Amino acid sequence: MIVTKDERPAHDTSEAQVPTDEPVGLGLIHRPRRLRSTAGIRALVQETRLSADMLVYPLFVCEGTGVRREVSSMPGVHQLSVDEAVRETRAARDDGVRAVLLFGLPAHKDETGSSAVDPAAPVQSATRAIRDQLDDMTVITDVCLCEYTSHGHCGILEGERILNDVTVSHLVETAISHAVAGAHIVAPSDMMDGRVGAIRRGLDARGFEGVAIMSYAAKYCSAFYSPFREAGDSAPAFGDRRSHQMDPANVEEALREVKLDLDEGADIVIVKPAMPYLDVIRRVKSTFHHPTAGYQVSGEYAMLKAAGRLGWIEEPRAMLESLTAIHRAGADIIITYYAREAARALV
Ligand code: PBG
Repeated sequence: MIVTKDERPAHDTSEAQVPTDEPVGLGLIHRPRRLRSTAGIRALVQETRLSADMLVYPLFVCEGTGVRREVSSMPGVHQLSVDEAVRETRAARDDGVRAVLLFGLPAHKDETGSSAVDPAAPVQSATRAIRDQLDDMTVITDVCLCEYTSHGHCGILEGERILNDVTVSHLVETAISHAVAGAHIVAPSDMMDGRVGAIRRGLDARGFEGVAIMSYAAKYCSAFYSPFREAGDSAPAFGDRRSHQMDPANVEEALREVKLDLDEGADIVIVKPAMPYLDVIRRVKSTFHHPTAGYQVSGEYAMLKAAGRLGWIEEPRAMLESLTAIHRAGADIIITYYAREAARALV
């Protein structure tokens, strides 16, 4: 019971022993603040620990040599030619990052995104170069058509409709071409139905049973992708992505999507975006117990960068807090444009 000086009965004579400006002890058994009292004790009881090992660094690879073009809505993020992408990967490795996720910016775009399977295209070339020169780095490749199609949609169109099964066969060929180039992991981000199983069968049939699939299993139709579409030059020419990406209002549907991908052979599942969907990450992790990745997307990064630049938040702290939250929610892996900065902050 909490007793303050003023509440003590009149006959209480203990008044004399209590300094008049101090409240009496509260008689509390539990005082959570004890474990927050020193940095040493706080470290002992810390539950969530970020490490650079869990970070994946996305890179946008374009044609040419010596190209390093900053994305205006993503300060610190650049479109990089293959040679620069190798340089950036080496620098990331020196910072402690161990995996990159490659997106391609082809010179040539057409209706069917045919350059996605070109062995000389940026993703395939960068994969070979990184595997060649930095063999301890894990190379993950994004498998989608939106950066390769002239209309910016994630698949093959009939009128304004994206054809699912035809698109899947193109994705299978794309994934195989990434595996041929040396990708350790392919990451289909298109949200077509049945693509994980088809890619698994396609890879296996070509002798790539050792190449893993990290599927964007629960990918929401999010407003937080806008800066990416500048970086990846992949904004849809008309319409939106609601016919394949998920409604932000749904979480049960995310569990069904994840189950389908796992049943089809996904090794790692991604929830994307991350911070607005921490509950989804938690549900996915607790339900399926599979390696789970959270993708802190371009808009999440851009918001933190912008507020940091304006002096409205302390960016380095906000960065680590956001990554800690994603890990705490259940993500084993975090895909983030902050990978290098975070890795440096963590050593
Ligand atoms: C599609 C793809 C997108 C992102 C990753 N893969 C864009 C989209 O779905 O429109 C978004 C990543 C980000 O915003 O950081 N290939």
